[in-house]
Amino acid sequence: MKFKTLLGICLTALIVVQAAASTVQIGANRDNTLYQPASGGTTNSNGAGEHFFAGRTDDGYARRGLLAFNLTNFIPSDSTVTGVTLTLYLSRTKDTTEPVTLHRVLAGWGEGSSNATQEEGKGAQAVPGDATWYHRFYPTSLWATAGGVFVANASASATVNRDGAFYSWSSSAMVADVQAWLNNPGTNFGWLVKGGESVNKTAKRFDTRESTAPSQRPVLAVNFISATPVGACCVPEGSCVTVTSNQCTQLSGVYHGDNTSCTPSPCPPPIGACCLPSGDCTNATALQCNALGGTFQGNGTVCTSNLCPVILTPFVDALPVPAPLQPVTGSAGGVAYYEVPMQQMQQKLHRDLPLTTVWAYGTAFPGPLIEATVEQPVTVKWINNLRDGNGNLRTNHYLAVDTCLHGPDHHGDKPLTVVHLHGGKVAPKDDGYPEETFLPGQSRTNQYGNVQPPGTIWFHDHALGITRLNVYMGLAGLYLIRDAFENSLGLPAGANEVPLVIQDRKFRADGSLSYPAQWDEHFFGDTVIVNGKVWPYLIVNKGKYRFRVVNGSSSRSYALRLSSGATFHQIGTDAGLLEAPVPLSQLTLMPGERADLVVDFAPYASGTQLFLTNSAPTPFPGTPGVGVIPNVMKFIVTNSVGHTTSLPAALRPVPRLYESNAVTHRDFTLRKASDPCTGAQWLINDLHWDDITEFPVLGTTEVWSFINRSGVSHPMHLHLVLMQILDRQPFVVSNDVIITTGPRVPPPANEAGWKDTARADPGEIVRVIARFDGFPGRYPYHCHILEHEDHEMMRQFEVVLPPLLTGVRRAGTNVQIDFRPTTNRLHFAQRRDDLANGAWTNFTNNILGNVTNVTVTDPGAVAQPKRFYRIGLSP
Ligand code: C2O
Ligand code: CU
Ligand code: CU
Repeated sequence: MKFKTLLGICLTALIVVQAAASTVQIGANRDNTLYQPASGGTTNSNGAGEHFFAGRTDDGYARRGLLAFNLTNFIPSDSTVTGVTLTLYLSRTKDTTEPVTLHRVLAGWGEGSSNATQEEGKGAQAVPGDATWYHRFYPTSLWATAGGVFVANASASATVNRDGAFYSWSSSAMVADVQAWLNNPGTNFGWLVKGGESVNKTAKRFDTRESTAPSQRPVLAVNFISATPVGACCVPEGSCVTVTSNQCTQLSGVYHGDNTSCTPSPCPPPIGACCLPSGDCTNATALQCNALGGTFQGNGTVCTSNLCPVILTPFVDALPVPAPLQPVTGSAGGVAYYEVPMQQMQQKLHRDLPLTTVWAYGTAFPGPLIEATVEQPVTVKWINNLRDGNGNLRTNHYLAVDTCLHGPDHHGDKPLTVVHLHGGKVAPKDDGYPEETFLPGQSRTNQYGNVQPPGTIWFHDHALGITRLNVYMGLAGLYLIRDAFENSLGLPAGANEVPLVIQDRKFRADGSLSYPAQWDEHFFGDTVIVNGKVWPYLIVNKGKYRFRVVNGSSSRSYALRLSSGATFHQIGTDAGLLEAPVPLSQLTLMPGERADLVVDFAPYASGTQLFLTNSAPTPFPGTPGVGVIPNVMKFIVTNSVGHTTSLPAALRPVPRLYESNAVTHRDFTLRKASDPCTGAQWLINDLHWDDITEFPVLGTTEVWSFINRSGVSHPMHLHLVLMQILDRQPFVVSNDVIITTGPRVPPPANEAGWKDTARADPGEIVRVIARFDGFPGRYPYHCHILEHEDHEMMRQFEVVLPPLLTGVRRAGTNVQIDFRPTTNRLHFAQRRDDLANGAWTNFTNNILGNVTNVTVTDPGAVAQPKRFYRIGLSP
């Protein structure tokens, strides 16, 4: 854009000294087309179009071009004009030979912003300020005569036929026109360009000053002899023009004195941004840039963060394989206590990329691998030690924070963090509640009991409204839970078990991460990183590898394949092993989802290069091919023999959750809504984070239906629970009513295991089933597209204690009930004297939550050996 404008300036001001006389080439400062409408037809124009027309097209109506040039900046007013030539580029015609004439226009007219589409022959609806067949300035001023007011006798005529050529007009009448405009600039309304109007299909289409090809724009060359001396003038963008001292001042140029010449140019060589092969940007002259092998971006351009596209060679860095984190006390993989600082650090993400500033858990991004064993608790002290370049604790975020969003609207750009163990079944206080954030200099200690099936889970930041920014900076890591049974299955292990954390990023030439300052409904990088390296390679032996694949991207989904087309096996889903290995040739993973894969490299000759490829469009599911980054990483097969044991036919039984056991069914509509601050937001049931409407009872099973009424897929994630996908069903919406259009289809075999994130495709209802056990309290559920989660496709459910008998005591005035409310809502207490018979008597609705061990005072207490009490949530 900037480039185009600069060329325009060059073109309008290219001046050559001819002894006492000068020649100036001036670009048009206005042009347009008058479209003759059918009676009652629309009032069309083409102010901002790339073309103007003269003649009749096949609809039988005339078009006339208008063209004007500003002379005063380029020709001293006391000059004598000695020659004038207009040159136009003809870009489209029916090949008829027609005279095209120029007529001096006698009234002012406008060039608005109307912009016709396609070939532009029909024009576009005029906008205020446009010239039309009837209007000088639409919609206020009319021509005295429709079709324009101009001198009937042509000033010049040229015969025009083939397209793809330049045509020129030159005459003494044109010299007289230009001299008159110079003497009296107020009468300079330019020329009307008239083609053949007696038959159809005579129209000639010429390029306007808006043409994308600068060399094809209209040019008026004027020869003149000036009484005022002229001299070389260096204009800011670097070129030299020969003008008077006054005109040079008007052009903000530096005047070099009367009669100085532009040949050779006295102007310092113009400086501009130069994109170097490395992707760096430097300021240089065009010549210097060329010598550096760079691409000059134009005179006067400046290096800005996104100017030079960073082109990185794929597969030049080895895949980093994170080693298990070592605990402070205890043993790695067992009961252990870890300390993990969050640190701002510089990391090399690609051979040709300068160091990138990232936020890491520990010493590298993505974070360390934490190994755990079922029922062996792990404690982690997460320390926010984010410091700026001077070593001071950060007080603001590294990335721009959009304060439209919930969270930053209160906390601004503070570098708040909170760590969530995604897929972990943990108490609310350990789960990483998005509002329990902490600042640099603070820490939190979380307990992870590992009372759940073994699986590929992960941890990442979850701070309200800035999760996408914190994870983009690098705050994510892997957590693997194992058990003795799994260890006995003979799956590839040790060097043959490799985590693959797949993310997308966008880099600036200086290596820094690029992320938009303002929230957008998606973010897609242009580069894939695996375990923190751009398009890495992994050298593999001839055998089976177990890959723990995590899609840790913000918005990008992946449809993964091997370039050989070979079958691989999925052995586990988000949170555990499948019942049996599932052969696949392609695997789709949305953000937040994981897959436990086994790939066998035994069949390949040593030296074979295989690629892990991706074909998922953005946004997903999208249009095939659109927004795809086709490569993920490369495998190079070596000669050595690896893990060749065959895969077990059976892995681990997945106990089914049955719909018949569900006590509650809930529906969740997923869609986009408008937002006054950001333009749009994503919502669940049109509600927000603070609207809590789901209170599953601890230990009960529920079916949740996600009804996707948007055009993109959403990976829906519930904290606390492990879920199973029941089925998916297509629907249409008619008069705001959901009408299903097909049967409920159970998930494919590779999704029929423990999930915590389930894909909901557009126009589909996905039903998931889960038991809300483990802990009472509040947990988030959300779309795992981080841009959606941040605004505001994240809500919370609250697991409540069942409204059941919780204490039985003999009579007394103070009845001690062993009850620990986990919510700050009010509870009721009821009593009954016989558990089997009679009604419950409610005696208070006002027991406050958030206290331990409530003492309920029973006003009606009597000596009664069998009095029963129950407590529940007040309505
Ligand atoms: Cu991985 Cu609530 O998220
Ligand atoms: Cu989670
Ligand atoms: Cu979403």
